[in-house]
Amino acid sequence: MGIQISNFTKAFGDTVVIDNMNLDIGSGEMIALLGPSGCGKSTTLFAVSGIHNINQGRIVFAGRDVTKLPPQERNVGVIFQSYALYPHMTVAENISFPLMVRKESKAEIKRKVDDIAKLVRIDNLLHRKPAELSGGQQQRVSLARAMVRDPDVLLLDEPLANLDSALRLEMRSEIRRIQQASGITAILVTHDQVEAMSMCDRIAIMNGGKIVQVDTPYEMYNNPVNDFVASFLGNPPIAFLTGAITSGCFVSSEANVCLPLSVGYEDQSFAKIGLRPEHVVLGNPVEPCGDNEVNWAQVCFIEVQGRENLYDLRLADGSVIRTIQPVRSDLKLGDKVQWSVKDKDLLLFQQDGARLYETP
Ligand SMILES: Nc1ncnc2c1ncn2[C@@H]1O[C@H](COP(=O)(O)OP(=O)(O)OP(=O)(O)O)[C@@H](O)[C@H]1O
Ligand SMILES: [Mg+2]
Repeated sequence: MGIQISNFTKAFGDTVVIDNMNLDIGSGEMIALLGPSGCGKSTTLFAVSGIHNINQGRIVFAGRDVTKLPPQERNVGVIFQSYALYPHMTVAENISFPLMVRKESKAEIKRKVDDIAKLVRIDNLLHRKPAELSGGQQQRVSLARAMVRDPDVLLLDEPLANLDSALRLEMRSEIRRIQQASGITAILVTHDQVEAMSMCDRIAIMNGGKIVQVDTPYEMYNNPVNDFVASFLGNPPIAFLTGAITSGCFVSSEANVCLPLSVGYEDQSFAKIGLRPEHVVLGNPVEPCGDNEVNWAQVCFIEVQGRENLYDLRLADGSVIRTIQPVRSDLKLGDKVQWSVKDKDLLLFQQDGARLYETP
């Protein structure tokens, strides 16, 4: 079931927290609302679920305007960061609760609970109480409880925030598996870019109550519309250098950097360049380095990660860029190396942060 959010505005008192938002979510799609704390992710989710009424705009489920409908008439399943399971009930009773409220038959309830428990892989835990479950198991129960009513939409607000890192990893792929197996339309609220990228078909990145970009994780990572999006995705994050564009090169004289650009960039007195850690190519350490030559840097920190290492480079102006490299046993702390980035890998931005594109 597709969802359309049009011209959605929400204010608390005089403070507008969502400003004229538009977002179309396809049927069976899982989309992430990603952004920093306070940008309005939960507010949007509450509006879709019906918990909040909205000041302006429309929310449409599969062509049906639900803007004025209360939550119980929208058929949405909601999962929050805290699982909110009933402690005195068993897992089976917790999951069946929404069906008992609807006064479904005992046989029907048992069939549905068994089915959903199998899907989320807790069918061996149905007799236990929540206190006898791990965090990940509790999260599965809350997922089962949200889905047992066969909702049209699944809304997840930071569902993994309370799990330790190993469990978070496991539940990330589990929730995605369950969403894909059931074909349910889902909105995931998160401020974790890895979660958004790994679990969702598309990401809507938000800042200050507005959507900045909506795209597939791949497009958003490789083609960010501005420096905010570029810096929000990627770990370690992208590094920025400021300078100018002169005769087809990005030049920063303080940092002693000159990077040739692909054709089509016009001269600019200000430009900001974004360097992804995996795109920086390191040459061999050479001693002494030619101080008059460009693109030299000193290795100022090495973090061993096993399959690859992080090598931090200090440039002439003291700025540091973080790079990911295959393990280089020939490189040690303090070495001077020449570095480069392929022109196709360079991202350029204007003074206001918007992307600077080539003129065709
Ligand atoms: N009931 C409320 N009354 C007044 N202001 C509110 C209310 N709920 C949220 N806000 C404000 O609206 C803005 C958006 O809040 P929201 O909870 O949607 O942020 P969020 O993106 O979910 O952040 P987080 O990642 O911290 O959960 C914040 O500035 C918040 O202080
Ligand atoms: Mg929130």
